[in-house]
Amino acid sequence: MQVKAAVTHEKGKISIETVELDAPLASEVLVRLIASGVCHTDSAGINQLIPVTLPAIFGHEGVGVVEQVGVGVEGLKPGDRVIMSFPSCGTCSHCVEGHPWACDNLNRLFFDGSFKDGSKRFSQNGNPVSSFFGQGSFSSYVVVDARNAVKVDVRSDEDLAKLCSLGCGVQTGAGAVLNSLQPEPYSSLVVFGAGGVGMAAIMAAKIAGCSKIIAVDVVPSRLQMALDVGATHTVNGKESDAVEEIKKITDGGAHYSVESSGVPALTLQALRCLRREGTCVLVSVTGDAEVAIPLEPLLMNPSVTLMGVTEGGANPQTFIPKLVQYFNEGRLPVDKLIKLYPFEEIEQAFEDSHSGKTVKPILVF
Ligand SMILES: NC(=O)c1ccc[n+]([C@@H]2O[C@H](COP(=O)([O-])OP(=O)(O)OC[C@H]3O[C@@H](n4cnc5c(N)ncnc54)[C@H](O)[C@@H]3O)[C@@H](O)[C@H]2O)c1
Ligand SMILES: [Zn+2]
Ligand SMILES: [Zn+2]
Repeated sequence: MQVKAAVTHEKGKISIETVELDAPLASEVLVRLIASGVCHTDSAGINQLIPVTLPAIFGHEGVGVVEQVGVGVEGLKPGDRVIMSFPSCGTCSHCVEGHPWACDNLNRLFFDGSFKDGSKRFSQNGNPVSSFFGQGSFSSYVVVDARNAVKVDVRSDEDLAKLCSLGCGVQTGAGAVLNSLQPEPYSSLVVFGAGGVGMAAIMAAKIAGCSKIIAVDVVPSRLQMALDVGATHTVNGKESDAVEEIKKITDGGAHYSVESSGVPALTLQALRCLRREGTCVLVSVTGDAEVAIPLEPLLMNPSVTLMGVTEGGANPQTFIPKLVQYFNEGRLPVDKLIKLYPFEEIEQAFEDSHSGKTVKPILVF
């Protein structure tokens, strides 16, 4: 079938064009897009900081309605509303154990542009076109593996459109807290970087019952929004020494920290602000950046843990329905982060994401 998609033929460029989409194969589904989030990882791909094979269709936070299912698909039927998430192979030891975020084939399935069998579903003039994250959600229709389409119970297509980032950014931030850190009620938690991922971590810390939730950012409007979604304290890292401030607020150091600013050097602050036995989780994607960590005074003597986690340590099939339930109960106010743009205004959406004007742009089809 012919679909309308934003295609990247050369580094840094996108244009909306007509593309061919194959029918779903076994274990795959065809989804009509309602909306797609715009994530920083998409720009990294478009600008070839991640060397995805071009031409490619980016986008990996799509939501929509199932139109057709391939042979052997269980649990999904035409008409189901789905949130699409990251792909995983389903057969490596991590997937078999229910830990798809640690899939051995993650890098290939996220960034190579092809499906598990190495083939592609989009094409143009007979030439294959890559699907980013096995999705390529900057397209009016996509074919995805049924493993990365999660059926959800939402009231309307309008509500579904608000939930795009549950597939990546929100899952990453909320999962870092609820799956990886699992903070005890009344514990203290610091989030470095109040962007889409960090805001979700703040909402999750409130759900978990943390009593002190501290947002660190350098943009006053972000800090204000952090208070709106659950932070109890804010620190402007440009105006004060964040570690000193956090130690004051937490009487000596926080139990937990999340590094989601994307600034590698902040890892040291995220460790220094902890109390003994504290844990820091890193979720920022920073390429091959390196940070020198003084082992004895920073990790050993205070006895703290540093962990890294992809996609919030989440199994999308079980975690996303939980997040939808929190949203329906008003406990995960992700609608406060979004701004809707018609699909045709995709370049404006990216511009507003880069400038920080919009926390989470959503393209509506
Ligand atoms: N690990 C994963 O699976 C995964 C998934 C999605 C996103 N990410 C990564 O998470 C990170 C955050 O993503 P996002 O979409 O929230 O980005 P974002 O740009 O919306 O948020 C980053 C925030 O950090 C703040 N910041 C920048 N410099 C700072 C400083 N020196 N001190 C304090 N705050 C500072 C910015 O003002 C902004 O609010 C990115 O690195 C992204 O690539 C990871
Ligand atoms: Zn796997
Ligand atoms: Zn993403």
